[in-house]
Amino acid sequence: MSIEIALGAALLAAFPRLRRRLQLSRAKHPSLAGHSRMAKRVARLVPGYGYDEQEFFGVDGAPPEVQARRRNGFELLSRHLCESAPATLALTARAREGLSDLQLTGRYRVPFQFSEYVRGKLPVGAFWQSAAGVQLQDLDGNRYYDLTGSYGVNVFGVDFYKACMEEGARLGSALGPVLGGYHPCVAELVERLRAISGLDEVSFHMSGTEAVMQAVRLARYHTGRKHLVRFTGAYHGWWEDVQPGPGNPLPPRETYTLKDMDETTLRVLRTRRDIACVLVNPLQALHPNRNAPGDSTLVDGSRQAGFDRAAYTAWLQRLRQVCSERGIVLILDEVFVGFRLAPGGAQEYFGVQADLVTYGKTLGGGLPVGVVCGRAELMRRFKPERPADLCFARGTFNAHPHVMGSMLAFLRRIETPGIRAIYQDEPRWSGWAERFNQALRDGDLPVRIDALSSIWTVSYTQPSRYHWMLQYYLREQGLALSWVGTGRLIFSLNYSDADLAEVLRRFVGACCRMEADGWWCSPGLTHQAIRRGLLREMLQQRLAWN
Ligand SMILES: Cc1ncc(COP(=O)(O)O)c(C=O)c1O
Repeated sequence: MSIEIALGAALLAAFPRLRRRLQLSRAKHPSLAGHSRMAKRVARLVPGYGYDEQEFFGVDGAPPEVQARRRNGFELLSRHLCESAPATLALTARAREGLSDLQLTGRYRVPFQFSEYVRGKLPVGAFWQSAAGVQLQDLDGNRYYDLTGSYGVNVFGVDFYKACMEEGARLGSALGPVLGGYHPCVAELVERLRAISGLDEVSFHMSGTEAVMQAVRLARYHTGRKHLVRFTGAYHGWWEDVQPGPGNPLPPRETYTLKDMDETTLRVLRTRRDIACVLVNPLQALHPNRNAPGDSTLVDGSRQAGFDRAAYTAWLQRLRQVCSERGIVLILDEVFVGFRLAPGGAQEYFGVQADLVTYGKTLGGGLPVGVVCGRAELMRRFKPERPADLCFARGTFNAHPHVMGSMLAFLRRIETPGIRAIYQDEPRWSGWAERFNQALRDGDLPVRIDALSSIWTVSYTQPSRYHWMLQYYLREQGLALSWVGTGRLIFSLNYSDADLAEVLRRFVGACCRMEADGWWCSPGLTHQAIRRGLLREMLQQRLAWN
């Protein structure tokens, strides 16, 4: 052993705080997503600038002939998008100025350097007239296959939710807006949710974000510890503590963002005494340690994904064991994946029992909701031995009669043989993803699909500055994505094989058009060269500012 190593070991043995600090650093993912504080600093340094028309088509140094093809394709695409949906686009333009959310989503569909030019030329309508089956219709009568999935709410198809909402409204109509007391159906809901979650108690909230807030608050209250652990890249709503990086103006406080599926994280959990809970969003199984794959961050195409059910199951089981040993509350945040993967949610699908589970989105049967289920001793909001020490949680609209009614309709319906059969058919989704991949390989197209059941993500097999353009070619083909773009395709489980075959045809068609228009023609380009070029650009912009 060298003298330096021996000295280092002696130092660590003598200073346990230093050792724990080092352990924490080792459990952080090396990417910016793993370093919230640093990511915020870097985000503040990025200068705002945009490409002019010249740069827009040739920022990767493509030859003039390729740039000409791109211009021509872009022009046709622009004409199609503008001319096919005039009423939808007019209303979108009218609402934009006063609708903050629309300004954000419109701006962050694509990498910011391209954003302004794209917004002017490739407008995307934000309004829908109606929905039926697996399709959406805009104000101009155009029909699109719905791959937005309504942020994951739409698991069984819009007609299913319309029926739940109607039934909920009927059930709740005699009470109308009466709050505070409960509609009688709440008793049945509690029984059903206890059975589904395998947990003792239930609380109702108004959104997934609120359910997560309450679960973390309860964990802190009962353990007397402050810190929560979340995994790199995982989304748990927009509350401060679970969103410690860019997007939140405050610096990270009591949140440790650690590596998902990694031994160093277990070591931290085994040794620290300040951790109240571990939050898990099982959607991350599709892209562990990576942020939601939005097209606005698709600057070079190095997005990667891949779902390994056995490995993720084994990880959750190890996490369960360590949390039990250390008295850390394991919270499974099923707001996104709950009721999509199996009737018993992610707990059933991955074979793990959590201490607290959060649900939301689809569980409201089409209406807004958040739910926490948990072990009795964790759900209690008071301590009889210390009556003034409460864990307060309310919310005016929690347990609204209409929401409770549509949730009951949802829970009753998912027990019917038709829905049970849909759940049994889960392997169908990986089969279809493989069919898409085969077609993409056959067409020699640089695109691949990874699937976590009916939640898909698109990755790219070669470097390019223009992968995000695919979302517009998909739109042209009548496939509607959310503002996140090609990183998140969400199918409802009522897609028939005929629907999927049609989506496949259109998807491959969009890729072929994109290929023919030259967007993937950038010979010799590497991810590294793209990143270097971007850094150079940004430095130049900063210098020009100063
Ligand atoms: C896993 C997870 N948790 C929490 C939330 C927040 O839910 P809501 O948007 O209803 O506040 C989301 C939303 O996407 C989510 O995916």
